[in-house]
Amino acid sequence: MTSNLSPIDKAKFVAAKRAVDYVEDGMKVGLGTGSTAAWMVKCLGEMVRDEGLKITGVATSSRTADLAAQVGVPTVTLDQAKWLDLTIDGADEYDANLNLIKGGGGALLMEKIVATASDQMIVVADLSKQVDTLGAFPLPIELIPFGWQTTKALIEETLVNLDVLGRSSGLRMNNDTPFITDEGNYILDLHLRRIGNARQLSLVLNQIPGVVENGLFIDICDVVVIGNGDGSVEVRDINNGTVEHEQIDVVETDNLFVDIAD
Ligand code: A5P
Repeated sequence: MTSNLSPIDKAKFVAAKRAVDYVEDGMKVGLGTGSTAAWMVKCLGEMVRDEGLKITGVATSSRTADLAAQVGVPTVTLDQAKWLDLTIDGADEYDANLNLIKGGGGALLMEKIVATASDQMIVVADLSKQVDTLGAFPLPIELIPFGWQTTKALIEETLVNLDVLGRSSGLRMNNDTPFITDEGNYILDLHLRRIGNARQLSLVLNQIPGVVENGLFIDICDVVVIGNGDGSVEVRDINNGTVEHEQIDVVETDNLFVDIAD
């Protein structure tokens, strides 16, 4: 059955499979959003079911909350959990310092709140997400719908003085209507092409009225688990400065591989 997985799905799966090794009995775990994080939620569901793992999850989106319920991972709100042991989530880009762009799935606000409220953040990704400099992936910004065109204009004007290559932006759409986040906001995607100073950009963007949050995760991620299509993984820990390589056994069980959700 392993051959049924495309190389990219296998890469995402083995990253998720390795990342859940960090989860221990009794932990409170932030559950990320996206296709790679969905594998991680499924792996946790299997551990709860088959190994009796006892954890409490906090979902970073309604999509992830639904998936967690489907696979049997219990969840509570962040306010009930208060503080988390770790969060495992995907990313759209990561650089050598494990700074990230996130929000391709539109869940950046809850993802950032949850990751920041965790002792440790682990990113699960494949090698296509690795970049020398952040910015090729459009940077998502969560905006209040009120006056969004004015906010967009202010953002583009602000970018003139910052170290970026592009300044155009587009409102994320869902067919003919604006994409609405779980918190009822809009997403503006900034086509910056290259972000010279991500820390400065993040701070400046969040000063603009109407901006709720941006998709730059600076100094939040501790570990990245990079999966490959051949089943190998690389684990980079920014705090320890370690890089480990492993091979993951892919044994496809019926429960884990039906109805892959993203
Ligand atoms: C969701 O809002 C995002 O931050 C995702 O974590 C990110 O887009 C990665 O998603 P994939 O694992 O589907 O690429």
